[in-house]
Amino acid sequence: MFPVTSEHRRGNNPLTGQASNECDPACAKQARGDKGGSVPDSPLRNGAHLILLLAALLAGIAIFLVVRQAVIPEGFGLYGHYRAGALKDNRMKPVSFAGREVCAGCHFDPDEALRAGKHGKISCETCHGPQSAHAADPASGVPAKPNAQGLCRRCHESDAAKPAHFPQVASVSHSGGAACNSCHEPHKPGFAKIAGERSGKK
Ligand code: HEC
Ligand code: HEC
Ligand code: HEC
Ligand code: HEC
Repeated sequence: MFPVTSEHRRGNNPLTGQASNECDPACAKQARGDKGGSVPDSPLRNGAHLILLLAALLAGIAIFLVVRQAVIPEGFGLYGHYRAGALKDNRMKPVSFAGREVCAGCHFDPDEALRAGKHGKISCETCHGPQSAHAADPASGVPAKPNAQGLCRRCHESDAAKPAHFPQVASVSHSGGAACNSCHEPHKPGFAKIAGERSGKK
């Protein structure tokens, strides 16, 4: 840009000496950067830039398609936005829970005790953990007994977020640190031990 010099201005205010912003035609021409009498602008003057831009865009799309082809796993999209092979992969995983019916087939007493009490709807493996290996071959190992203290509190520690009708206790004031199963029978958590029904055992 050419600086608009005072020579090109006219109509300076004689009182203030300030230049008005009006230009004469020569000044305006210079300010526009015209070199005088040049050829009118061609619409394709910047065509090379557009071609470069288009080439970059096409190259980007091509790279995207190649990478996409390489990273999308086989079978994707067969059943929608999902990898079809995942179903087979999941089926291959070993089953780790045997289910209560299987446990009850050998452990009759715990099942009967459970049914008679408020824990009747809880499955064995909710408390004992996944035991399909033990159920399939008991000789392979005897499951460890669950640590009642942590287990019971997981469901019964009082918490304002639990429904009010659910039996819950503040364990510190309720039992003062004594093991929950020293008073409650885990499979039948009423008050059998307290009532002395289990006196003489354990
Ligand atoms: C095929 C029969 C069989 C099946 C099915 C079975 N168990 Fe056992 N279980 C046994 C035998 C045998 C023992 C060892 C006997 C013992 O020491 O009392 C045992 C021991 C246990 C023990 C340890 C007992 C203790 O006194 O320390 C637990 C806990 C147990 N099983 C839980 C389960 C659970 C939960 C299931 C279901 C997932 C299950 N069992 C399925 C036969 C079976
Ligand atoms: C609410 C949790 C819970 C559920 C449900 C449960 N158990 Fe138990 N079970 C325990 C705890 C805790 C012990 C350990 C008791 C102890 O240390 O004296 C135990 C002990 C056992 C034992 C060892 C012997 C005994 O009676 O002390 C066997 C066997 C057993 N459970 C089998 C089962 C089977 C089979 C089922 C399902 C029919 C089942 N349990 C459901 C918590 C549970
Ligand atoms: C998986 C959650 C769960 C675990 C673990 C659990 N309980 Fe329960 N407990 C329940 C449910 C569900 C009920 C029945 C609530 C109802 O009837 O509204 C219940 C009921 C009870 C009751 C009330 C019994 C009655 O007759 O009113 C006692 C006491 C109890 N549990 C003690 C225990 C003890 C002790 C342990 C640990 C050995 C334990 N619970 C572990 C879920 C659990
Ligand atoms: C010293 C014996 C003793 C010990 C240890 C004990 N309890 Fe109790 N529990 C009781 C008695 C007695 C009751 C019934 C009276 C009451 O509600 O206080 C009871 C009631 C309960 C109830 C039913 C509350 C209701 O509102 O219906 C739950 C749940 C419970 N106990 C869970 C536990 C848990 C979890 C532990 C271990 C942290 C535990 N208890 C340890 C004696 C005991």
